[in-house]
Amino acid sequence: MSQTWDPDTYAKHARFVSDLGAPVVDLLQPQSGERILDLGCGDGALTERLQKAGSLVVAIDSSPEQVSAALKRGLDARIIDASALSFNQEFDAVFSNASLHWIQDAKAVIDGVWRALKPNGRFVAELGGAGNVESFREAFQCALATRDIDSNAADPWYFPTTKQYRALLAARGFSVRSMKLFPRPTPLPGDITHWLELFAQPFLKAVNAADRPTLIQEVRGQLKSKLQGSDGIWLVDYVRLRFVATRTE
Ligand code: BEZ
Repeated sequence: MSQTWDPDTYAKHARFVSDLGAPVVDLLQPQSGERILDLGCGDGALTERLQKAGSLVVAIDSSPEQVSAALKRGLDARIIDASALSFNQEFDAVFSNASLHWIQDAKAVIDGVWRALKPNGRFVAELGGAGNVESFREAFQCALATRDIDSNAADPWYFPTTKQYRALLAARGFSVRSMKLFPRPTPLPGDITHWLELFAQPFLKAVNAADRPTLIQEVRGQLKSKLQGSDGIWLVDYVRLRFVATRTE
C-alpha cells in the first residue's frame, strides 16, 4: 500500500477531518445499545463520540498504526480492509467519515456493508465526491507529466458522482433516504506541504525519494494562487458526498 498513516502527524495536521465529521454523527443519530460498525475509524476520535452516545461500536481501519491509536482510547478497534468485510447481519448501522474515497472497489465495500447490516439497518457516510480536491489532481498531473509520469496511475482516490454512488447502492438492495454533493472549502491549520506529505503520498511516491521535496514545492507553487488567501490561510477545495441509505431486505 502506498499510503501510510502516522497517528501523531495526523493528530497535529488533520484533526479537522474528525472535527468536521460531527454533522455525519448527527445524521447517524446513534442510539444507546445499538451495534454500530465504524468503517475507516482512523485514530478513533469519532468512534469515541459514537460510544459516548451509548452505542456498541466495532471500529475498523486498514492502518495498523491508526488502529493502535484507537485501541489506546479503549475502543474495540480491528485491522480490517473495508473492501473485505465478513460480518453477517450484526449491525444496526454502518458509519463512515472521510474514508471510503481511499477504496477504488466501491462495489466490494457496499456488498460487505449490506451483509454486515441487519435488515432495515442504515448506512450513513460521507466521502469525497466528484470534483473533490480537483486542484491537487490537476497540479500533480502537470508536475508528473513533465517527468513523463502518468498521474492517473498513481491516483488512489475514488470521488463518485451522486448518480454513480446511488446506482451502486440501489443495485445492492439499499434504499437511498438522502444524498447530497456539496462543496466544503476547508481551511488548513498550517501549510499545504503538511497536507501533501500526509494525504498525497501515492503521488509523491511516483518519483524517487530525492525528487520528492522538489515535487512538493512545484505543486505548492501551482496551488498557491488558487488556494492560499491573502491572510496566508490555505483553503482546500473539498467536495463532500453525504448520504443515508437503508438495507431494504
Ligand atoms: C478527503 O477527505 O476528501 C480527502 C482527504 C485526503 C485526500 C483526498 C481526499
